Amino acid sequence: MKIISDPYVLKEYLKSKRERIGFVPTMGALHDGHLSLIKNAREKCEVVVVSIFVNPTQFLKGEDLESYPSKIDADSKICEIAGVDVLFLPQVKDIYGEDEVRLQAPDVRGYVLEGATRPGHFNGVLTVVNKLLNIVNPDYAFFGKKDAQQLNLIMLMVKQLFMSVEIVAVDTVRESDGLAMSSRNVYLSTEERKDALKIAASLREATKLITQGERDVRVIQEAMLQILKPLEIGYVAILSREFEYIESLRVGESIILVEVLVGSTRLLDNIWV
Ligand code: PAJ
Repeated sequence: MKIISDPYVLKEYLKSKRERIGFVPTMGALHDGHLSLIKNAREKCEVVVVSIFVNPTQFLKGEDLESYPSKIDADSKICEIAGVDVLFLPQVKDIYGEDEVRLQAPDVRGYVLEGATRPGHFNGVLTVVNKLLNIVNPDYAFFGKKDAQQLNLIMLMVKQLFMSVEIVAVDTVRESDGLAMSSRNVYLSTEERKDALKIAASLREATKLITQGERDVRVIQEAMLQILKPLEIGYVAILSREFEYIESLRVGESIILVEVLVGSTRLLDNIWV
């Protein structure tokens, strides 16, 4: 596995490759969710590039930029074992200059849900993903459904900026008890870890109701809120896959999204129904 930090060196290295390039951008502290993206890339592409870059522009003031978990040695071993060809580890100064051109998330879809609790977050996400895609120039880039709004906005960016990469959406990987894997789960105390299970329980309840024939968004939302009630709820939203609010759920075309604050940790989850 090659480890490269300089974007220009990486660009030059990949330019000579005639095979399909698959790219998995991450912020590190790799877990089985990230690994699943890497496996998908490995299956589809001859050359697999993973980046680890804790992107400062997507963190708001007072968020966990300084304390974001970093395990570069373990991460690098995980990538090596998973058959990654190139690990891209840029520094902030390699990615950002001064007086920058910036991307702006769309006014509506970029500022609802996560974008409402973290205004400006998606400007940073789109800016860095755009830069990373331009450096790697992959045929395919792999993103998790776990961050459904991020995925939706990246797909929108690729379409609206006429970019040629194909975005592949990968299913959420969970712990055996149902908690969606996240680099931020390490922040949870034992008690909070138990509370966090209510998220998956609320999504299971929604699935049960839908299987029984329920389609009224308000009824499903209410049942979920009952389960989540003891926690500080950011949002429970039922949307179309294009992120529009709906009143009646259409099976195969909808997403149910949850954000809760467990202690001081913001946890996201969703199911595609
Ligand atoms: P990060 O949180 O490290 O996630 C990297 C990728 O892993 C994202 O596409 C995310 O959706 C996916 N992922 C996270 N948890 C997952 C899980 N349990 N199952 C499947 N996939 C999962 O998302 C980011 O980093 C950043 O915003 C980034 C896109 C790298 C831009 O800085």
